[in-house]
Amino acid sequence: MNKKLISSINEIQNALNEANVRNFNLPQIVVVGEQSTGKSSVLESIVGIDFLPKGTGIVTRRPLVLQLIRIKVPKNEEQTTINNNYKPFATFQHTGEKKFYDFNNVSQEIANETKRSVEGKNISSKEIILRIFSTQVTNLTLVDLPGLTQNPIKNQPKNISDQIEKLVLNYITKSKSLILTVIPANQDIANSRSILLAKRVDPKGKRTLGVLTKIDLMDKETDIVDVLNGSQLPLKYGYVPVINRSQQEINDNISPLQARANEKKFFQNHSKYSNLSDRCGVSFLTKKLSKLFKKHIKKQLPKVRTEVYNQIIRLNKELQQMGNNIENKKPFVLTQLMNHFTQSYIQEVDGKQMNQLTNNN
Ligand code: GDP
Ligand code: NA
Ligand code: MG
Repeated sequence: MNKKLISSINEIQNALNEANVRNFNLPQIVVVGEQSTGKSSVLESIVGIDFLPKGTGIVTRRPLVLQLIRIKVPKNEEQTTINNNYKPFATFQHTGEKKFYDFNNVSQEIANETKRSVEGKNISSKEIILRIFSTQVTNLTLVDLPGLTQNPIKNQPKNISDQIEKLVLNYITKSKSLILTVIPANQDIANSRSILLAKRVDPKGKRTLGVLTKIDLMDKETDIVDVLNGSQLPLKYGYVPVINRSQQEINDNISPLQARANEKKFFQNHSKYSNLSDRCGVSFLTKKLSKLFKKHIKKQLPKVRTEVYNQIIRLNKELQQMGNNIENKKPFVLTQLMNHFTQSYIQEVDGKQMNQLTNNN
């Protein structure tokens, strides 16, 4: 039920984008942080594959909606067959059916598609939708956003900081978004701009989860035990400390798997964190996110249902007005998908009402 629920949410997301329907918000996890705090690194760690364009400065210039879809493997298949038959791959909304098995090409395609719609060093609110299919991922929908900045860099418009903040606010203001704030632990946590921004839209921290990066770069005399224990800067869902690869380790081609092992060792052997180590690291973060996300979707379901009703009604009207000269079949496709979603899942919640609606098509 849970997995199907998330994949249905993803299908709706795709259909909405195809049909150019805006302002329809679905449950998703929005990643927020200042530039170079480790947002991309955290996302890659969650996926366990390198697939994001890297570089200094503002690399992420369009929202990237990342839908992680777990490939289910029949129980009786052996590990060796699994590795051959179920290689991870990616697809993009804008490239249709094409499957990307080489994740260097995924990274390249993100960069190319970004360039296609954004001039120079500017940003755009137009989403790139990327799906990653793997036996290793947890079903999650994450949104990577441009990093918050204080000052424009060379060749950037003067108001870039405001533009980015506005874009971020657009996503995190929606009550259906879980906010994943990425904060470097080697800087002043209390004054992190992403925490301040999250507080503005979620003052009680009810849908915000903190990720503390760069624990390995902290001053030897300091630690974040107070934050982890909730006695400092409390958030309902708390904070998870992680260690991503340093630039040197990326250059040395340290694999995500190796990085995960190093991270685990770090926390287990650290005098301050060893007794908290089962609440540290990317594996724990992924499990926690998955649990929160499912809980969140269930809670949001009634709202999603109402909005789906309204969309179907609106799109059916549009369809009728178009009559038979339909060049643009997109609203129809969307209606079909919505119906599929509502029939499969929402019916469970409110069967009768939904039946009436779908039978009217
Ligand atoms: P983004 O701009 O927020 O997406 O940040 P990136 O993920 O691109 O990371 C920026 C830089 O910080 C890269 O050179 C990473 O290697 C480095 N980095 C990120 N997280 C960590 C960490 O936990 N420890 C260390 N040592 N370096 C990190
Ligand atoms: Na960056
Ligand atoms: Mg980034």
